[in-house]
Amino acid sequence: MSHSATAPAPTTEPPKPNGLEGVVAASTELSHVFGEEGRLVYRGYDIHELAGKASFEEVAHLLWVGTLPNRAELADLKEKFGANRILPDAVIDGLRALPENANPMDALRTGVSLVGAVETGLFDDEPDLDEAIALAARFPAILATFFRLRQGKEPVPGRADLNTAQNYLYQLFGTEPEERHWKPLETYLVLLMDHGLNASTFTARVIASTDSDLSSALTGAVGALKGPAHGGAPAKVLDMLNAIGTVDNVDAWLTNALDTGERLMGFGHRVYKAEDPRAEILRGMAETASTPEFFALSKTTEDRALALLDERKPGRRLYTNVEFYSAAVLAAVGLPGDMFPPTFAVARAVGWSAHVLEQVAHNRLIRPQSEYIGVTDKTFTPIADR
Ligand code: ACO
Repeated sequence: MSHSATAPAPTTEPPKPNGLEGVVAASTELSHVFGEEGRLVYRGYDIHELAGKASFEEVAHLLWVGTLPNRAELADLKEKFGANRILPDAVIDGLRALPENANPMDALRTGVSLVGAVETGLFDDEPDLDEAIALAARFPAILATFFRLRQGKEPVPGRADLNTAQNYLYQLFGTEPEERHWKPLETYLVLLMDHGLNASTFTARVIASTDSDLSSALTGAVGALKGPAHGGAPAKVLDMLNAIGTVDNVDAWLTNALDTGERLMGFGHRVYKAEDPRAEILRGMAETASTPEFFALSKTTEDRALALLDERKPGRRLYTNVEFYSAAVLAAVGLPGDMFPPTFAVARAVGWSAHVLEQVAHNRLIRPQSEYIGVTDKTFTPIADR
């Protein structure tokens, strides 16, 4: 027997796709990203059919149940959302214990996990529609509670008479939300609700496939969304735009960033090889919602970034993604940058839970294999000899 450490013999198989690119890992009727065409479809509806026309609750019903609701179904869903906006004291106490400089994504992840641990009666069974509504309604309540506690303010209990977008703003700021704020927020939430098998949705489905509970699946999904390659980018877009400062500085700033190997936040996408349709809708909203100065800075930065990326990365087809104009829209609504990623999660909680329901309805444990590239024939050396 050989004592040398040798690598496995090379195989003739084609290389495995890096980052599972192009690999189909689930079947879904919920949404699809047509990457080459730059189209997004929710259960058969192009996103342009829904954005600005359908409410958060209507689109949530579409994803969870499969159809747009009739009036009675919508009233019932709104009532259930309204009844699920109160957090147990133990969850509020847990959020109170966090340092005020905690990342709101960490606070959200902790809050979702706490809800699962505290409200065991609600989230212990196999995930179902009522659990999905209950947990999705708790997302904005958790965030708004943390947002107020970190400013030394007491939480504002949720209101059953408001819709999700209105109530989120009400719980955050404690005042009656204005239509010029809640309407763009609602459209943003509809646009971000689902997006095929993105990294956080895949995470939720993997967790659900082990017969775990809904709170665990969505806790894991929040963790996956946190990274800047996924949902963590819009805060960094705002940082980038603030660092650029003025339209005159755009070219020098972007050139220097690319010269030093930085990635431009809000550009590029694993699936879209054309403009992200959500970016197109959000650009129009940003023009209306943000100040003319901020929109001019955003638009000049976008135009110059696209030209520079085309020049520096020819053939990579890097376009504006959803995160770029999300920053302008969410800032105009009154949210600080670090609340952008968890506000994305308020929307995606619906998509994640819809995927969990779909996964459990046809479940098979998701358990892929790795390609072992290590050695196979080492022998043990006792500690005294090492
Ligand atoms: N700025 C500069 N270069 C970029 C950018 C960018 N934003 N995005 C991709 N590239 C370059 C890469 O450097 C690479 O160049 P190379 O081939 O010379 O090495 C090439 O384009 C391909 O990049 P990959 O990393 O292979 O592309 P991938 O599909 O893995 O990445 C991602 C997609 C992570 C979104 C990437 O475009 C990126 O980091 N963008 C900036 C962060 C961002 O905006 N994230 C939000 C994504 S949207 C969402 O998840 C909701």
